Amino acid sequence: MTTTKLVRTAPARAAVVGRLVAADRVRSAGVDRNLLKRLGFAGEAGKSATVTGEQPALTVLVGVGASGDLDATAVRKAAAQFVRAVASHKTVVLDLTSVEDLLDADDLVAAAAEGAVLGAYRFDRHKSPSEDTTLETVTLVCGDGGKAGLARGQVVADAVCFARDLVNEPGGTLTPAEFADRAAERAAAAGLGVDVLDLEGIREERLGGVLAVNQGSVEEPRFVTLRYEPEGAVGSVALVGKGITFDSGGLSIKPADGMMTMKCDMAGAAAVIATMCALPALGIPVAVTSYTPMTDNMTGGAAQRPGDVMRARNGKTVEVLNTDAEGRLILADALALASEGGPDAIVDLATLTGACMVALGDKIAGVLSNDESLSDELLAASEAAGEPMWPLPLPTQYRKLLDSPVADLKNIGGRYGGTLTAGLFLQEFVGEGIAWAHLDIAGPAFSEEVDAEVPKGGTGYAVRTLLEWLARRADAAAAGEPDGEDLSDG
Ligand code: BES
Ligand code: MN
Ligand code: ZN
Repeated sequence: MTTTKLVRTAPARAAVVGRLVAADRVRSAGVDRNLLKRLGFAGEAGKSATVTGEQPALTVLVGVGASGDLDATAVRKAAAQFVRAVASHKTVVLDLTSVEDLLDADDLVAAAAEGAVLGAYRFDRHKSPSEDTTLETVTLVCGDGGKAGLARGQVVADAVCFARDLVNEPGGTLTPAEFADRAAERAAAAGLGVDVLDLEGIREERLGGVLAVNQGSVEEPRFVTLRYEPEGAVGSVALVGKGITFDSGGLSIKPADGMMTMKCDMAGAAAVIATMCALPALGIPVAVTSYTPMTDNMTGGAAQRPGDVMRARNGKTVEVLNTDAEGRLILADALALASEGGPDAIVDLATLTGACMVALGDKIAGVLSNDESLSDELLAASEAAGEPMWPLPLPTQYRKLLDSPVADLKNIGGRYGGTLTAGLFLQEFVGEGIAWAHLDIAGPAFSEEVDAEVPKGGTGYAVRTLLEWLARRADAAAAGEPDGEDLSDG
């Protein structure tokens, strides 16, 4: 893992120096204007120019676009782009001083640290050792302030990398038991309360959805609950994450192409667990409990059959007509359990529907919620965190698509609007009167290409949004704002 440092002035003997350059400030970049013109560099976001010299040997100018538009997202992307360009060096310097006046120093340094660590991320656990040099240290230069931002950015980036490692781990090695072990180990080290249910515990708690999906597997399921209970907490939140360690589809089996990336089907649980583990270090004063069911979805002889009926934790029965709509079955139990805790809000994360990728493409998550202020909070946090999300409805007129002749509901809707009927299904397991939002991260949880801070494979998507959202909730409570409550009529 790459680490970041903060200094006040650029070290005199650095061999590799990056510099953020705004489009309207190219003249003050410290490099000959004619040379820049020949290189075709004008400070555009996403563009960079490399200049060789004696001291430093390598200067990389990284464009961030117009100075008036500069935000954390642009800085994060530029920092990631820089470290990708110099990844074969052991130590590099990234000078932020040219844009220091444009952003709060902590926000600037945090975004640069995040971009640097996330852009340098590698998953090489299963590769033979190589002699290649890898990036160890990125020294950020900021003339004034930024110390708290550096610490925060490093913690957030570490959490995202933890989620990425879990998602990238193959389904054959990250079994539910292994997933639970890694979660429990990291959570205990972070000082969280940890509770892990095995098969017997899951039976005792009557988690019928987890049991139904697990029937076709030789791997035991797990259900992990993590608790963060800071002193003087303002409010409580529950996070729920889908932890399907591999989704074959079950007897409603997927075609080979659709199965290739299905180790990613626990990305919701991974993001939730990684978020939890970062909370103590960030000291966010909100009580948070996470609920993450873990199983794979396989085709063994005892697998559930299309048409079978299961009973979820809250007593509702479900006719399982398509065993590939398994995520909602395990989330049903987790949402019911989370509701029993009576939190102020529940947010669940799941790689739930291919339909969400049809609707929003593979870089934008869908947000479905029964509470407009909660979804507004999440959308604002996602924007600040640079993880795009878009609202989708929960139309009551589609609820009848889930009616079953033999059970309380069936697990698939009609041919269209698959993300919406999935959301309507989940809503059946959320306790009365609890604000709830569902994030369908099927698209952005896994990337087929490198894009700035986003690597190929597991992306750790939504960790930054959740941490930003929780920090904002704490700030709002400290400022005495009502948390979405309508106080207008007394
Ligand atoms: N894990 C998949 C959804 C998915 C698809 C995630 C592609 C990431 C990329 C989920 O369990 C699934 O199979 N959903 C079905 C639901 C359908 C059977 C109603 C789908 O989207 O096809
Ligand atoms: Mn599935
Ligand atoms: Zn799935």
